[in-house]
Amino acid sequence: MVRGPMSPKTMPNSVESTRALLKCGKYLSDEGLGTSLYLSLKLGRPLLIEGRSGVGKSEVASVLAEQLQRPLIRLQCHEGLDVSAAVYEWNYAQQMIEIRLAESAEGRGKDAVAANIFSERFLVKRPILQALETKVGSGAPVLLIDEIDRADEGFEAYLLEVLSDFQVSVPELGTFRAEERPITILTSNRTREIQDALKRRCIYYWIDYPSAAREAEILKLHTPGMSRRFTEDLDALVQELRSREFRGDPWVTAEAKWAATLMEMDRQELDPKRTSAKIAEMVKRNQQQVYDENKLEASP
Ligand SMILES: Nc1ncnc2c1ncn2[C@@H]1O[C@H](COP(=O)(O)OP(=O)(O)OP(=O)(O)O)[C@@H](O)[C@H]1O
Ligand SMILES: [Mg+2]
Repeated sequence: MVRGPMSPKTMPNSVESTRALLKCGKYLSDEGLGTSLYLSLKLGRPLLIEGRSGVGKSEVASVLAEQLQRPLIRLQCHEGLDVSAAVYEWNYAQQMIEIRLAESAEGRGKDAVAANIFSERFLVKRPILQALETKVGSGAPVLLIDEIDRADEGFEAYLLEVLSDFQVSVPELGTFRAEERPITILTSNRTREIQDALKRRCIYYWIDYPSAAREAEILKLHTPGMSRRFTEDLDALVQELRSREFRGDPWVTAEAKWAATLMEMDRQELDPKRTSAKIAEMVKRNQQQVYDENKLEASP
């Protein structure tokens, strides 16, 4: 997926200006993330961000692209992701048409068709190849390789070469090398360990759950108009749910959505302890119901 068009802005020149840039895009970063991102931009090395669901990993790339006015090229990883979906593939249908047309046309030899058939015209460029295509001066795009832990280890091994040299080789055509390296951000939910070799090529940062105070600030940014008391109550509720190891990780987005919904309903107060106990009870009841239904289905 590509988002554009843009006239690029210059890069931030300090940790503070990197954090300020993110803040302009309504993203609050702590000093660790600001430093990692600044170094990644400065040194032209990919940034690998790990953390639980909803802590704001992918959002870093979106906000950065928006604020630097660069295209955002996103590669969503999944099991079975391969080079044809991530890097390039040949447009076989188009190639077949070309061959048939050449066969029916007079005066064109098979050799001419063969020489043409593996030209760039028939190459379908996927996110990684698209990200390598920027020309110097036009502003490197932001390449988000999202949830790399969902891809197979084989694909991770392929990425090693790409992230070292920022080049891709297409055997029939030659090598595509980025004139300007894309700003590359990888994310992982750590559903499995990422290979050390890949980690070594990146600057690494782990995003933890925000503290209650930080969470309140984020909420205020996303849902202006909330009373301070209400923000504090909602934060306390989320912290309470986390302490109960609520499955499904109550994440920042959910919190902002709950806030917006409750405000729509004119609710400006809640009791965190009672509400979290109720939610825990509801979840338990739902789980029991699913369990009973499965048992019914399984019985002859
Ligand atoms: N530090 C933050 N500042 C501002 N907003 C934040 C912050 N952290 C999270 N958010 C909000 O939470 C939402 C979820 O963030 P994001 O989608 O980046 O999470 P994620 O870590 O990529 O989750 P997942 O692993 O489920 O993909 C964002 O859209 C943003 O609104
Ligand atoms: Mg994400």
